[in-house]
Amino acid sequence: MTKKDNTNQTKWWKSAVIYQIYPRSFADSNHDGIGDLQGIILKLDYLEKLGIDAIWLSPVCKSPQDDNGYDISDYQDIDPMFGTLTDMEELIAEAGKRHIRIIMDLVLNHSSDEHYWFREARKSRENPYHDYYVWRDGAEGQLPNDMRAAFGGPAWEWVPEVGQYYFHQFSVKQPDLNWENPKLRREIYDMINWWMEKGVGGFRLDVIDQIAKEPDRKITCNGPRLHEFLRELSRETFQKGDLVTVGEAWGATTELAKLYSNPDNSELSMVFQFEHICLDQIPGKEKWDLAPLPFRKLKEVFGRWQRELYGKGWNSLFWNNHDLPRIVSRWGNDNEYRVESAKMLAILLHGMQGTPYIYQGEELGMTNIRCQLEDYRDIETLNLYRERLEKGYEKAEIMDSIYAKSRDNARTPMQWNDGENAGFTDGEPWIRVNPNYQKINAAAQMAEEDSIWKCYQKLIRLRKEYPVFAEGEFQMLLEEDENIFAYTRTDACSQLLVICNFYGSTVEVDLEELESAGELLIGNYKDRKQRRVLGPYEGRMYWRELG
Ligand code: GLC
Ligand code: CA
Repeated sequence: MTKKDNTNQTKWWKSAVIYQIYPRSFADSNHDGIGDLQGIILKLDYLEKLGIDAIWLSPVCKSPQDDNGYDISDYQDIDPMFGTLTDMEELIAEAGKRHIRIIMDLVLNHSSDEHYWFREARKSRENPYHDYYVWRDGAEGQLPNDMRAAFGGPAWEWVPEVGQYYFHQFSVKQPDLNWENPKLRREIYDMINWWMEKGVGGFRLDVIDQIAKEPDRKITCNGPRLHEFLRELSRETFQKGDLVTVGEAWGATTELAKLYSNPDNSELSMVFQFEHICLDQIPGKEKWDLAPLPFRKLKEVFGRWQRELYGKGWNSLFWNNHDLPRIVSRWGNDNEYRVESAKMLAILLHGMQGTPYIYQGEELGMTNIRCQLEDYRDIETLNLYRERLEKGYEKAEIMDSIYAKSRDNARTPMQWNDGENAGFTDGEPWIRVNPNYQKINAAAQMAEEDSIWKCYQKLIRLRKEYPVFAEGEFQMLLEEDENIFAYTRTDACSQLLVICNFYGSTVEVDLEELESAGELLIGNYKDRKQRRVLGPYEGRMYWRELG
């Protein structure tokens, strides 16, 4: 018998591909216009065909939905909008039959203000739950300090009953939890263990780098006790199972990521870091302050993360999630070259080391949406509009930021077919369907030979067939080139070569390695005779055995 390997050396998630579902926009089974758990169950065959290993579900726990479920009022129940606990158990079981694991979204930085803990906490300073949250004394109208909340307004809210302010990094309905309190931490661990017993395959940890806050010193991210808390959390919960865990960490550097994803399994499997995804904004400003993508910087960032985590940590690989605009509209071309650029971006990302995440609809090349302000639903977008109008911005300028970066770009309903409401619901959808669904939808792409969907399906399969995807060492090529993103991945016996034209004009590449690159595993153009010429948004992946 071999000793149980409790480190991250040989974990299943190193050759896995994870699919993110935003439940309210995925599939509606009961005509109320909101996606639900039974809707997901109906689509499991679709996901099995795509070939993914796990589903990360954005929050489905009970919630007043002030921030679409990222404000949880009961961590051990399902929101009626999505179904029941029995539906959740059925989803875990049905997914299991198809070898798909369910990853839940743990929102542990804050709860809803409607959570029992907070309803108690605000009653009096003596209440046993009071200290589950972060309070500061003060007088009404005199805020403890000038910290701001992420969705606008101050980070402090007055509660007359206790004569104190509570701290909230997000909306007023998302009071921050006080991780300094060991009783709170214990309750959280018990809750997680309860979900683990239900057969959950992993967790995504919402804004996890913000839990160890010290508001008096204005510290929210990477607080001094963060890694201590994480190690305790992991020891008390995750380490008892064979889970995948991924932390959302906007403040992660490669150094910190090596702590989070240390192969000794003491914290998490990996983190989502956002260095690459924040590049198209004016440095030091907000995401709404648009700037062109500095392409060479993008390569530098990817290259550094690939190099520094090699053997010392693990990367997550993603272009999209429910907070980000659609990548094909953002860094590809959602017009003339939508198909080519969506595939190129997929090939570019999926050849790297790490665990790739696909956000629902990405496998179809779904695009951003442009609509009237009335059609937006996201609290962040709506607050931004109001704030910037008050500050004197022009309406057109604000709308340009929203078109480019609104979270609702990712939240329009999944486009299943060319029927009414894209096959998402036969009720009234909670948010507008992107009108391009007649052209862009799953049914069409599953039937078509060279669709974006087929490209994703193949990339997922290749990762399973060739060990070099998980283990190969990364080497960036043509670092100074202004159009080409190229790299190799090399293990003891084989090599991958990925070469992508990131832009819309034909380019000639001066790269020796191309001649001996071996067999073309996947590409987005047919019949390429000249290896050294790349068409608009062309992407290719070669493989060869090393002699
Ligand atoms: C994370 C989530 C986002 C949410 C926020 C507050 O960033 O991804 O959707 O609004 O945390 O929970
Ligand atoms: Ca529904």
